[in-house]
Amino acid sequence: MSELDPRSDDLAVPDDWTYAPAPESREVVRLRERYGHFVGGSWLEPAETYETIAPRDEEALALVGQGTAADVDRAVQAARGAYADGWSALPGSERAKYLFRIARLLQERSREFAVLESLNGGKPIKESRDVDLPLAAAHFFYYGGWADKLEYAFPNRRPRPVGVAGQIIPWNFPLLMLAWKVAPALACGNTVVLKPAETTPLTALLFCDVLRQAELPPGVVNIVTGDGRTGATLVEHEGVDKIAFTGSTEVGKAIQRRLAGSGKKLTLELGGKAANVVFDDCALDQAVEGIVNGIYFNQGHVCCAGSRLFVQESIHEPLVEKLKRRLSTLRVGDPLDKNTDVGAINSRAQLEKIEELVASGREEGAEIYQPPCVLPERGYWFAPTVFTNVAQSYRIAQEEIFGPVLSILTFRTPDEAVEKANNTPYGLSAGVWTEKGSRILWMAQRLRAGVVWANTYNRFDPASPFGGYKESGFGREGGLHGLEPYLEFDE
Ligand code: NAI
Ligand code: MG
Repeated sequence: MSELDPRSDDLAVPDDWTYAPAPESREVVRLRERYGHFVGGSWLEPAETYETIAPRDEEALALVGQGTAADVDRAVQAARGAYADGWSALPGSERAKYLFRIARLLQERSREFAVLESLNGGKPIKESRDVDLPLAAAHFFYYGGWADKLEYAFPNRRPRPVGVAGQIIPWNFPLLMLAWKVAPALACGNTVVLKPAETTPLTALLFCDVLRQAELPPGVVNIVTGDGRTGATLVEHEGVDKIAFTGSTEVGKAIQRRLAGSGKKLTLELGGKAANVVFDDCALDQAVEGIVNGIYFNQGHVCCAGSRLFVQESIHEPLVEKLKRRLSTLRVGDPLDKNTDVGAINSRAQLEKIEELVASGREEGAEIYQPPCVLPERGYWFAPTVFTNVAQSYRIAQEEIFGPVLSILTFRTPDEAVEKANNTPYGLSAGVWTEKGSRILWMAQRLRAGVVWANTYNRFDPASPFGGYKESGFGREGGLHGLEPYLEFDE
């Protein structure tokens, strides 16, 4: 046996376990100075432009078009032309080939897309790389699989495409929401005019290059950028047969009013104020992870975020303590750093909304906790926040904050949990944490929410339908259900 070196006291024992910077290179993204609208397979010079920025430091990234009524009209014409000129009559198996190609190209170029998504939207690269991109590709694969099986999906109902779909998407999952909308529309034989959100147009514009590579016929997908005015023009356009909208309840209601009696098909995926319900028999540490994922994922810019936490009274204290301890390990900062857990707030306007609602929580009497963290000086930032002592009537328990802000409430019995969870105008999602399968089913039957997660949260799969009750909207995206809004039936 060899002699062991005596232990030296001078050996450097690390006492600081902070992470070294691990920035993802942005070299992989090549931006143009200026982008037009993508219409009929080529770039249309915009009449007006605005600057799109990086929320992490307000760096100007590019100029993009503010779509006018004339731009929208040309895009709808292009979509109509492509619809009539073969796309709608193409055999499903041929349409599928394009969808599979797009899916594979997204996989091949996923790093480029992930970096751009984090740059333009502020979300951590870890999430755009591991969630947004894989799911976006999965949606195209999934709906590619349905394209030639529509008659089996809807036996004896003779499915046929609707026509031109106008699609308006938000800024929280820019490319993923594009995939949720474009993939089922194309699978069913429709053509598309899509309007990305004003703060996050860049991955949709990069997607046009994927369409070129996939050799998708010109006009099948058209992209017009701009703000709500461009969206409103698209909604009103006579040549659009169907509108699919994801965004605020306020705008969703306006669109529904606008389209009433028009005969246009409509699906709305709107806000949420989900209840995440934790029973005292749950695996507490797992629940804490689920709570964190439920509300701090994507800075809480998630329509199905678990923003109202209902904790059974008997475990309130230990749970809050564990949660606070866990929050202190969340790394807030540069979205392009691979270790970042919580990135930048998407826009100044959204930051102001969060600040206003958090101030209201304090004023109404809730107790605030934020872990110590140093926020960057430039850009838009908000520390992960927990409110305790929250009454159901407080605005922070009623209104969608769409930020990294959790409101904790308590309950004693399952009945009380259901009553409080359903006490909201929304109904998009909910979570249940318990070891009892029977209780999960009992809760799932009573919670008025489109998705109920059990012992997990924020799980998405293209095969699983997603959508709301009440003011969270109507219609489903994903799964077999997600085909229906893009089809007409001979019945
Ligand atoms: P928004 O509803 O105004 O924007 C969503 C999309 O709709 C964007 O593309 C926007 O340009 C477009 N739009 C705006 N006004 C329109 C109109 N009159 N007609 C047609 N399209 C229009 O949402 P905003 O102002 O960005 O965020 C406000 C709040 O809405 C957020 O704080 C959050 O609470 C909620 N929200 C919910 C989302 C969800 O996924 N359910 C997504 C985005 C926002
Ligand atoms: Mg708005």
